[in-house]
Amino acid sequence: MTAIPWKNEFETGIMSVDHDHDSLIQAINSLCERLESDLSEVAVLRQLDEIHALIEAHFAAEEKTMIDTDYSGYADHKQDHDRLLNDILDIMDQVKSGKSIDWVSLLGNLTAKWFSVHFSTLDKAFHLQTHGAGNNGS
Ligand SMILES: [Fe+2]
Ligand SMILES: [Fe+2]
Repeated sequence: MTAIPWKNEFETGIMSVDHDHDSLIQAINSLCERLESDLSEVAVLRQLDEIHALIEAHFAAEEKTMIDTDYSGYADHKQDHDRLLNDILDIMDQVKSGKSIDWVSLLGNLTAKWFSVHFSTLDKAFHLQTHGAGNNGS
């Protein structure tokens, strides 16, 4: 099962940004698939930790550009990034509490919903400013 199937709603219309987001989602999907044979708590937490780190690295790169360019939307944008990272930590807490959860569906639904809104609004606004309107990033 693909945890996060690509959706049109993820597109910002800026080619290089959509490419980065697609790579991020593919990396998360491969981590989810890799676990199918081992659902022990340790293995699940390790995968979730790696997924958290991948997403965090993507966010850190964006936030660095925002700071470097004195982007006015930095605070709101970072707050939305932090919200997703905290929600992933919450899933990890549920796993640690021994709760039997379908974490792939939970993570897939959470991120797909968040990506659909964040990519097409905050990321689009930010990248249009840094890439320049009318540039499709190619
Ligand atoms: Fe992004
Ligand atoms: Fe972002």
